[in-house]
Amino acid sequence: GTLDADVLIVGEKIAAVLARGEATDAATFAAATAAADAEPEADMLIDASGKYVIPGGIDAHTHMEMPFGGTFSVDTFETGTKAAAHGGTTTIIDFAVQAKGTSLLATLDKWHEKADGNCAIDYGFHMIVSDVNDATLKEMESCIGGGVTSFKMFMAYPGVFYATDGEILLAMQQAQRTGATIMMHAENGIAIDQLVAQALAAGRTDPVNHGLTRPPELEGEATSRAITLAKVAGCPLYIVHLSAAQALAAVAEARDAGQNVFAETCPQYLYLTLDDLARPDFEGAKFIASPPLRTADHGKALWRGLRTNDLAVVSTDHCPFCFKEQKELGRGDFSKVPNGIPGVEHRMDLLHQGVVSGEISLQRWVETCSTTPARMFGLYPRKGVIAPGADADIVIYDPAATQTLSAATHHMNVDYSAYEGMQITGKVAVTLSRGRVVVADGEFRGSPGHGTFLSRGLNQYLI
Ligand code: URP
Ligand code: ZN
Ligand code: ZN
Repeated sequence: GTLDADVLIVGEKIAAVLARGEATDAATFAAATAAADAEPEADMLIDASGKYVIPGGIDAHTHMEMPFGGTFSVDTFETGTKAAAHGGTTTIIDFAVQAKGTSLLATLDKWHEKADGNCAIDYGFHMIVSDVNDATLKEMESCIGGGVTSFKMFMAYPGVFYATDGEILLAMQQAQRTGATIMMHAENGIAIDQLVAQALAAGRTDPVNHGLTRPPELEGEATSRAITLAKVAGCPLYIVHLSAAQALAAVAEARDAGQNVFAETCPQYLYLTLDDLARPDFEGAKFIASPPLRTADHGKALWRGLRTNDLAVVSTDHCPFCFKEQKELGRGDFSKVPNGIPGVEHRMDLLHQGVVSGEISLQRWVETCSTTPARMFGLYPRKGVIAPGADADIVIYDPAATQTLSAATHHMNVDYSAYEGMQITGKVAVTLSRGRVVVADGEFRGSPGHGTFLSRGLNQYLI
């Protein structure tokens, strides 16, 4: 809902939401501060008149410092979380990546080493499971104890992260026993690898072939298969970075049947298309991510999915590789381009365009970008809501401001913008993380190390 109100913050928490006029009434204000054991005078007053005061964004899908194809995504936890704060995101959930032959707990330690003390905003982890064996299955329980309650698996990338249907079933059965959620990268990697080999053998090496060799049908097929396996195992399933209308239809059908199936999409699938992958002079490499960008009709279906809640969450899959040097690795062979698109900074802005154009409501913007990810990943009501007792993660968003997206002005540590030159209506005025101003008027005022690790509970949507 929306209301005209003032927010009283005491320390790191929201103490009260006071209807219009109440905060300026001395007696009411004194009662509210007394109830919160706080001094009766405010240390700081932020004038948010004419602006939206919304719970901070939660980006449930980022990859900082992620190893991929012999290189690493270029945002560190420090640079990536600063950029996120600039764009009104106050929590990220990043993916710890189990390498084959290593343990989940050692992986988790490694990701804590990368992130702890370096994040400008709060953060949690999901775990990527790439080596299913008895030890891994057992360790899933310890991960849950350590606040990591969701596990991503891959039907894509044979030889790297890929798990067989049998391995997926085993992990899903363990998720059923423990209440964990399985997150699925649903593309049929075995079939895709054949199409990729055929394209390369025929000399079709340009970036656009990344899209042409990963047809939407193979995302639809894998999504259906993941849903079926989850049904047999009886576990909750969350489809990550859903891009294809066929996959959306499979999710909608399962949800209509009452299965615990959820899905997210990302701004790139709403705003960018296969035409961007086809840009000349190797420019298309900037847009190589998996699943690939699709034709515009898929984007239209995704906006509808956001309205119907078949798509419940918008996250970025932020995975930045520089155009020079890193994307370059795939010149002459699209399959060698590191997969990923930068985006952690502009999710709130890009989805706000959907509010401006009437694709989604104001409330749905906040719901898909903050409240639902908080509930889906066990952070609610600490995060995702402006209510007494919640962390004071608050974004003051100016819906009338305008900005132009560009690599020249963004804060992500990457040398290009996938949205270069795009005109945006709306801009973050102030970002608060646990009561502290971390961004104001486009300037970073926080510190790396302010962010704390969030031990998460289970998915709160299960039926
Ligand atoms: O291309 C992508 N999406 N890169 C990041 C890894 C993943 O699959 O999410
Ligand atoms: Zn993925
Ligand atoms: Zn990802």
